[in-house]
Amino acid sequence: IVHGTIYEAIGGFDTIDRLVNAFYERVGKHPKLKPIFPEDLTETARKQSLFLTQFFGGPRTYEAERGHPMMRRRHLPFEITPSRRDAWLECMAEALDEVEIEEPYRMAIFEKLTLTANHMMNTPE
Ligand code: HEM
Repeated sequence: IVHGTIYEAIGGFDTIDRLVNAFYERVGKHPKLKPIFPEDLTETARKQSLFLTQFFGGPRTYEAERGHPMMRRRHLPFEITPSRRDAWLECMAEALDEVEIEEPYRMAIFEKLTLTANHMMNTPE
């Protein structure tokens, strides 16, 4: 049983930020993802760190800055196919390993992100 928040348990903002940087380093090189992301991922990573902070129980700065997350709606401008979903999750799995997030948090995080990634698909292959 996990008490408290995942955010606190894994080490707070510092860990989220390291995870997000490890993630976008891969996204920026991935042939399936690179074409739909901006060249400069600095701002994307900054927003993602704020989002994942609140998603895993930390301060709600994302919402304060950006309003309701509406993640599916924010992703509609991009063609998110099943293979892009797989690529996103693959980059995230590798980032979770690089940052050495331990169980049971790693699995809890990955499961929650998998559900969200499934929800983000909006285009057939
Ligand atoms: C933004 C792709 C899944 C969270 C974006 C952007 C793209 C993208 C292209 C725009 C980047 C920019 O213009 O800066 C994808 C793809 C996914 C995926 C291909 C595969 C399923 C997810 C998931 C989450 C997420 C699962 C959260 C758990 C975000 C956030 C932003 C974002 C927070 C920034 C939104 C904002 O502007 O405030 N994504 N995404 N994405 N994505 Fe995703």
